[in-house]
Amino acid sequence: MAKKIVSDLNVNGKVVLIRVDFNVPMKDSVITDDNRIVQALPTIKYVVENNAKVVLFSHLGRVKVEEDKAGKSLAPVAKRLEELLGQTIKFVPHTRGPVLEEAIKALNPGEILMFENTRFEDIDGKKESKNDPELGKYWASLGDVFVNDAFGTAHRSHASNVGIAANIDEVAAGFLLEKEIKFIGGAVDEPARPFVAILGGAKVGDKIGVIKNLLKKADKILIGGGMSYTFFKTLGYEIGTSICEDDKLQLAQELLDEAKGKIVLADDILITTEFSNDTPVAVVDFDKIPADQMGLDIGPKTLAKYTKILKTAQTVVWNGPVGVFEFSNFAGGTIGVCEALASLENATTIIGGGDSAAAVIQNGYADKVTHISTGGGASLEYLEGKILPGVACVDEL
Ligand code: 3PG
Repeated sequence: MAKKIVSDLNVNGKVVLIRVDFNVPMKDSVITDDNRIVQALPTIKYVVENNAKVVLFSHLGRVKVEEDKAGKSLAPVAKRLEELLGQTIKFVPHTRGPVLEEAIKALNPGEILMFENTRFEDIDGKKESKNDPELGKYWASLGDVFVNDAFGTAHRSHASNVGIAANIDEVAAGFLLEKEIKFIGGAVDEPARPFVAILGGAKVGDKIGVIKNLLKKADKILIGGGMSYTFFKTLGYEIGTSICEDDKLQLAQELLDEAKGKIVLADDILITTEFSNDTPVAVVDFDKIPADQMGLDIGPKTLAKYTKILKTAQTVVWNGPVGVFEFSNFAGGTIGVCEALASLENATTIIGGGDSAAAVIQNGYADKVTHISTGGGASLEYLEGKILPGVACVDEL
């Protein structure tokens, strides 16, 4: 079903509440990756150009007690947004109350206000995270219409998304949320085939839901990363000191049985003696891992095999690095997957959020793939086929 989009609203002269996900990584109050802010710009620019009075808000980190507030103010995010937009942002260091209400009343069309971290409301009874009905109603009362553009938070049912949506007349998706629904939802619901998924990361346990859902949808699932070794062990191979979830061996076997050949595992592995970038590296076939060594990346034969399969694909979804790419010795597989995706000319290539998104961006492939999701947990849950509350609360057209 088609969702209402911000461009379907009449925002002229109205107070438009926009929930963004500005939960960006920060070190000493300096933003280390502003991708989520950059991705929200089209929606913000659109409403500004269409004479809305704009009220932005987001969570930042997790806040349980007063001391957790340190370093979690959105003030540095407002500053970064000002630089990116070239426009003043009125930052209000409150989440409610007369100062905020007066500042919103004083907005002129085309002006932007941002209020403080919505999770500061969690200190007193988790009002934001438990979707306290009064809080959602209060925030809704501050505006005329609501735009949800926070895909990264769409798997949460919080006061600042579903709470507001339940208490305001019109709810639309921002352009970022629209894009995420189009690409991730589109890949899962009606992919152009062949549809190939690449799943990496340390644990099978974290990806069970995704593997199960994609087994129904994808033509092939290429496995990399730490979770490979749980599969190899269940098949009876020596995995040395590689990471393994012994409590998931039976599950891994069930997934392989259910997959009927759709799951593809590595042929060769880069091994070393310790979880380190400084110990000697060797390449071995997957069934020759010595008892005292661990696998930390896929090997060249595997990369060539995966690249060949990827070349046949019309739709590719990638979630999770295929090796320990933080260590330069074991980044080759993940960079190779980036290269393989970048070289596909006619395929839709979608990168789930989190580490695989970071790998694509850090290695300079961001403009060579179709879509990099801004959601970590949200994109995983979407790939699992779950209904996301932050998407469900947007009006149908
Ligand atoms: C994320 O970074 O995954 C989102 O912003 C959600 O954050 P949360 O896991 O703290 O709810």
